[in-house]
Amino acid sequence: MDYKISIERTKHSRLAEVDFNNIPFGKVFADHMFVADFDGKQWNNFSIRPLERLPFHPATMAWHYGQAIFEGMKASVSSEGIPLLFRPEDHARRFNTSAQRMCMPAFPTDLFVEALSRLVWLDRDWIPRNEESALYIRPVMMATDEFVGVRSSDTFKMMIMNLPSGPYYAKPVSLLVEEKYVRAVDGGVGEAKAAGNYGASLYPTKLAKEKGYDQVIWMDAHEFKYIQEVGTMNIFFVLKGRVVTPNLSGTILKGITRDSLITLMREKGYTVEERPVTMEEILAAYKKGDLLEAFGAGTAAVVAHVDRIGYKGEDLLLDQRNWELSRSLKEEINGIRSGRIQDRHGWIHPVIVEESVAV
Ligand code: COI
Repeated sequence: MDYKISIERTKHSRLAEVDFNNIPFGKVFADHMFVADFDGKQWNNFSIRPLERLPFHPATMAWHYGQAIFEGMKASVSSEGIPLLFRPEDHARRFNTSAQRMCMPAFPTDLFVEALSRLVWLDRDWIPRNEESALYIRPVMMATDEFVGVRSSDTFKMMIMNLPSGPYYAKPVSLLVEEKYVRAVDGGVGEAKAAGNYGASLYPTKLAKEKGYDQVIWMDAHEFKYIQEVGTMNIFFVLKGRVVTPNLSGTILKGITRDSLITLMREKGYTVEERPVTMEEILAAYKKGDLLEAFGAGTAAVVAHVDRIGYKGEDLLLDQRNWELSRSLKEEINGIRSGRIQDRHGWIHPVIVEESVAV
């Protein structure tokens, strides 16, 4: 479908203020944003314009009942200067799966990709050149009715912003197996990228940090036996002869990086088992010397090496001399994203927008 997106370029670019050799994750915003409104029947008012603060009524429903979802995506730039989006349609589909679970309207997939493409094109000079960095893209949808009773909002706002970003984790991460609090239960919203999932993770994560760990490993809510995910990423364990990762049971996020890495590992000949994984099994493998690597996978984190896992008062220490697979995966996925390694899977969406259309 042909969507009319109005475009207003900034007159005061902040690009010159950015130190591309030192961009902390999540703090630096590119010049433009995309905004659309849902009026109860359809999406309207598609605009790309200078990033600005938006005025909201204190009764805006998203603040009260958490009807808010988001996505995390990345764009890199090829050596010829062409912006490259990574699996944008898969992100659009996941956004709509989250929307459905949170009783929110679907956002047309083709409009999602078109809005992203035009926004990234306009902000293309903000895409970091360094392969470890990228333009992090944050689509978000929120309930905007001004109403204080509990029901689904009729109106919504969808926004997309761009953030040039360095690595989410600059060094290997330590994880504490969480044995009191839970992230998701069967039938809950664990699979959705719902804002509340992250809000609920903050207190247990703070406690883990006080104990000297970076993040928690979430366990199943019934027995605290099966591993789910880490707050910001999916998790993989490399054992001698195979790689194991929790299956998509409805309680964990359907990671697009997770899916991409599984594909790459299988192509390299690794046996990757997606199935329920118990912490006892990982501990037993560690004690036998069979646990070689653990790593997280996510858009922001890409591939995050794990150097320590705290479980029942014991620390499982992972020797970085064994991190061959996670290192090669990180190199390959970053290479595919930046166009240095050939995209054999149709994951890369090059962005070329005619200037006459773009402004
Ligand atoms: C992502 O990896 O994109 C995420 O959304 C994780 C985190 C930054 C919230």
